[in-house]
Amino acid sequence: MALRNIVTVGDPILTKKCRPVVKFDDRLAQLIDDMKETMQNANGVGLAAPQVGVLRRLVVVDVGDEIVELVNPEIVSMSEEMQTGVEGCLSLPGEYGVVTRPMYVTVRAQDRNGDWYEYDGEELVARCFCHEIDHLDGHMYTEIAERMLTPEELEKLAAESDDYEVEIEEDKK
Ligand code: NI
Repeated sequence: MALRNIVTVGDPILTKKCRPVVKFDDRLAQLIDDMKETMQNANGVGLAAPQVGVLRRLVVVDVGDEIVELVNPEIVSMSEEMQTGVEGCLSLPGEYGVVTRPMYVTVRAQDRNGDWYEYDGEELVARCFCHEIDHLDGHMYTEIAERMLTPEELEKLAAESDDYEVEIEEDKK
């Protein structure tokens, strides 16, 4: 496995629509393993292929007890119930915004062998699925954020709440 370079905002690759994965080969398996390692090394909870410079529909998400790999993911259902919370992105280090997302989503995706499966996510996992799949269509959370947090707000939030760490998507620092 190897760490990949995470591209940051300003790189046009983050604005492009990704193409489906069509080859389920050793190269894909290597990319998935590299993305998992890169995400963990950066203390993230989710990473999309375009963030490592690959314009393919592939994301990895840390759901707590494992890292799920979602190849060609689609959101097949989402709750009407919403959640509003703080969100960050490894491609926009040190910044956070307030974003409203569905509380529950079901994702249909393939694994590295091409087999289809469905995965239900709630709260942070649901938020992360939405955030990462948005990356595959060239979208950043900043486009839908109600507002961005100020550094003072972040300090205050960190001091007041132990939950802060799990509320921050893609950045557990
Ligand atoms: Ni992101």
